[in-house]
Amino acid sequence: MTTPGYRDVPPQSWDPNAPVDFAEAEDFLRMCYGDNSKLGSVEPRLAVVRAQIAATGTYVHTPDELAYGARVAWRNSSRCIGRLYWRSLVVLDRRRARTPEEIFALIVRHLCMAGGTAAANREPGAIRPVISVFPQAQPGRPYARIWNEQLIRYAGYRDVNGGVTGDPRVVRFTESMRDLGWRGKGDAFDVLPVAIETPAHGVRLFELPERAVLEVPLAHPEFGWFAELGLRWHAVPAISNMRLTIGGVHYPLAPFNGWYMGTEIGARNLADPDRYNMIPVVARLMGLDTSKPGTLWRDRALVELNRAVLWSFERAGVKITDHHTESDRFLAHIRNEAKAGREVPADWSWIVPPMSGGATGVFHRYYHEADERPNFYLDPEARALGVHGHRAHTATEDPTPPTQTRREPATAPQAPATASPSLTTPTPPRRIPTQPVPPAAPTRVAPSPTLRPACPVRH
Ligand code: ARG
Repeated sequence: MTTPGYRDVPPQSWDPNAPVDFAEAEDFLRMCYGDNSKLGSVEPRLAVVRAQIAATGTYVHTPDELAYGARVAWRNSSRCIGRLYWRSLVVLDRRRARTPEEIFALIVRHLCMAGGTAAANREPGAIRPVISVFPQAQPGRPYARIWNEQLIRYAGYRDVNGGVTGDPRVVRFTESMRDLGWRGKGDAFDVLPVAIETPAHGVRLFELPERAVLEVPLAHPEFGWFAELGLRWHAVPAISNMRLTIGGVHYPLAPFNGWYMGTEIGARNLADPDRYNMIPVVARLMGLDTSKPGTLWRDRALVELNRAVLWSFERAGVKITDHHTESDRFLAHIRNEAKAGREVPADWSWIVPPMSGGATGVFHRYYHEADERPNFYLDPEARALGVHGHRAHTATEDPTPPTQTRREPATAPQAPATASPSLTTPTPPRRIPTQPVPPAAPTRVAPSPTLRPACPVRH
């Protein structure tokens, strides 16, 4: 399978030094103005954009273009089953933010707005799909980025005996955060700090305040023992290391979120053998016969784990969806798009849910495979940063991070993990000695498990 844009085959690598391709800008602007008659004629706009590109190598989107572009980028996300509501994406224009403190305060605002904890008239748990768009990349200049794969992720700590407490997926990232001076509690569900890098400040770590991290403790509708496992998951999945590209302009820092489909948590995050690996534990507590695969003990435990996830989120009033409902909605989306004269680009291997595939409608058909823009892309360097949490691995596989990033002085004050700053006074950042950003080097990416559906929402 070599269709560009699919799985791990990027259509072409991004060259941050290249000026904007006017043809791509023109394609986008014609589509945007064609779909939005209130914006008027595209011709004068094209003339302005052509001149801006000639003078500066890039151009600046109007707020309308930005909002439309971000929504269409979601609509084009082949791996996302939740695209029925692409028009409802809340687009926050954060293009004026510069310092890490400003960026972090706006990240907190994003999470509160997404999780329903921002306003008195909204219920916590009424999750909304939101994207925050920070400054675009300027050709040939360094840009701000977030190293974390998602704004909210649980740390993973390797024990002395080789086991892992927490999420094994992020063990290396967690180690790097500790090297940078972060002190986690060492628990199974410790929220990682957000690593924000700007050209002027290097990387700095910020603790998310509690109100930005809505979480659901997991229990089961029938098994009383389930709650004692102490499992929990956060309510808002927010991808933070993908590049949004609209009309040839690149936004490397544009975190977006949706709400969860239960299987993402119950059939992957908590179930995968290289994640929390809870299937054998649940099976044992259910008293299942695990002597041979054919008793289907894995399948039975998986179903109960997934029931627990859906039941607990619903009980807590936190929006979540199941894979049957989501499958039906995706097929409805395909019908809507056909009425609008469009095909839906989709990747079967990501659209079909990770359990009971054949019991959902999305399994029983093929999809239009195409890489359409605007879209979101995970660049190799961003992927490596999300895995390793430092740059050494993005250029080489040398396990030693640059010395400047090794450790904070032991005397540096530690921000309390529970700090709950107000929006105007964000948590005192973990002050990391500014590290020079090494020049762009050829990237070698360490293999990493692939993040499942990278899309702003599943409804
Ligand atoms: N699968 C990822 C996770 O479990 C989240 C990907 C985006 N998901 C979404 N529902 N928007 O954390």
